Amino acid sequence: MSAMIILDVIMAGRIPQNFIDDLLTRTDIIDVIDSYVPLRKAGRNHQALCPFHDEKTPSFTVSQEKQFYHCFGCSANGTAITFLMDYKGMDFVEAIEELASRAGVEVPREGGISHKDSGSAELYELMEMVVRYFCRQLREHAEAHRAIDYLKGRGISGELAAEFELGFAPLGWDNLLKDLGNSNASQERLARTGMILRKETGGYYDRFRDRIIFPIRDQRGRAIGFGGRVLDEGTPKYLNSPETPIFHKGRELYGLYQARRKLKDLDHLYIVEGYMDVLALAQYGIQNAVATLGTAVTPEHLDRLFKVCPQLIFCFDGDAAGQNAAWRALEISLPLLRDGRQSYFMFMPEGDDPDSYVRKYGSKQFEDTSGYVPLSDYLLNTLRQDTDQKTREGRALLVEKTIPYLSRLPAGALRELLLKDIASYSELSVKDLKQLLQDKQQTQQKQQRNIHRSALKQGDSTLIGKAIRLLLHHPSIAELDKTSAELTNINVPGIEFLQELLAFIISHPDTTCAGILEHWRNSKFERRLNELASMESPLTEKHEIEAELQGIISKIKQTHQKKQRLARSQTISNLEELRNLYTADHTPDHKEQ
Ligand code: CTP
Ligand code: MN
Repeated sequence: MSAMIILDVIMAGRIPQNFIDDLLTRTDIIDVIDSYVPLRKAGRNHQALCPFHDEKTPSFTVSQEKQFYHCFGCSANGTAITFLMDYKGMDFVEAIEELASRAGVEVPREGGISHKDSGSAELYELMEMVVRYFCRQLREHAEAHRAIDYLKGRGISGELAAEFELGFAPLGWDNLLKDLGNSNASQERLARTGMILRKETGGYYDRFRDRIIFPIRDQRGRAIGFGGRVLDEGTPKYLNSPETPIFHKGRELYGLYQARRKLKDLDHLYIVEGYMDVLALAQYGIQNAVATLGTAVTPEHLDRLFKVCPQLIFCFDGDAAGQNAAWRALEISLPLLRDGRQSYFMFMPEGDDPDSYVRKYGSKQFEDTSGYVPLSDYLLNTLRQDTDQKTREGRALLVEKTIPYLSRLPAGALRELLLKDIASYSELSVKDLKQLLQDKQQTQQKQQRNIHRSALKQGDSTLIGKAIRLLLHHPSIAELDKTSAELTNINVPGIEFLQELLAFIISHPDTTCAGILEHWRNSKFERRLNELASMESPLTEKHEIEAELQGIISKIKQTHQKKQRLARSQTISNLEELRNLYTADHTPDHKEQ
């Protein structure tokens, strides 16, 4: 593959922000969401059962005016773009492309790399050069035969090494540094990617020395980090890139890019622990394996994987550590298991990992599904293990233990089946169990709602917050130029943002709440804006809204003036204090007497 193609994509430039602003005015979020989740009109809004959590009465609300959705149950919210990203698992660019194709327009690209992104774009470009550097060393370096022999010894073919772009970091402290770090600026960039480290005595040295190199690519194929393995018994056995602006271990998976590129339709994925496991499986024709990067499985990992593949098979060691890791994976899986999604567990025999297992027993046995433990079996068997079903107490305990797990599982066939099984073990009726489950869920939802409410109250507690919310909900209010002019020279926290927001709306008179949110996506204002957008607006009439805004603006002005007066009188009283100090008679105080 090609590093070249990736570079082209990066060089193709960003999608102009103006295009995104315009695209949103041509999009109706109701059409977009309705094509996946049928919506029903309810008052001013549209509603549905929330597709992001399990519920019986609809809390998922879509506002056509705001072009924004919000769920009162689970707080999911966002624009049409967010919906495509979160519901369909698209990345930002894919979501834009989907909306553009619905609107029948082409997505333009900026000629160069824009300022906003140039920081990361630069790093991606550099990482691409590092990949090529290590690959070149594996082909050309005088000591490369050691690395090649090692790989051959572990059964990795030249073809596979090329496909995964394996490389070699030669012995020495400054090989990469000399090759790619010949200016201060390039050294600084290399340091930001974690490829070189600063010496205490000044200068830098290479992180990866005398190691086999595994480049790590993200889902879109961009090189973001590296793993490196020693060629012998040295320690540490593996070294990984540190967390950098473009590399987050808790989100990325080794091999996912390669798997998706090879197999257009991923119907199941193996999750293993090591780089070498991914490679060994691929060598045996099992191309759908991914590895975490020296960390435990995280919710971000599973969320990402379930978005591209409905069936996950976790491969763990059979020992206690493996059991613990598996249980954690089970707990993380539960809320993600909508109908159609499945998790399985595969426990390796003592002393084996997927690499050694597939070499010993072959791919056929590895892929033999009779060895997989379905998540529901694993759950029930584990919970039943230490409850005595012969006593009522034991059966009650089993119910108590299982309900919290079930309550995290979305409603669907799997949950129904589990309920049936637990009913028969516990000798309670399914109906009674459902009641217990519902109670549990109601308390959970109530807690969530309260957390959400108090967060919202805080978000709207300032005048500036109120003004921003009004504008966000109703950007078509008249006379914004005048409002903006009234606010010049006023100095209260948040005023710069309010002014920026006004300027944006004045120059984009067709914009909506969603347009504003998208304009500030990935900025430090994103979260606060989303919170404000989620609130309900009590006002509907244009003149009411305008009057409300005017009221807030004059209050902001008043507060500002009051503060100024206060500051002035503060200075005056400070002066007085000062004068008193100087005129006070300096008779020694009592202690000294
Ligand atoms: N790992 C790590 N740092 C270490 C050891 C391990 O980051 N010091 C991570 C690596 O991602 C490695 C994974 O944990 O791939 C699994 O480690 P381990 O089972 O020890 O290695 P294997 O993948 O089996 O490697 P090998 O077969 O080469 O010994
Ligand atoms: Mn191994």
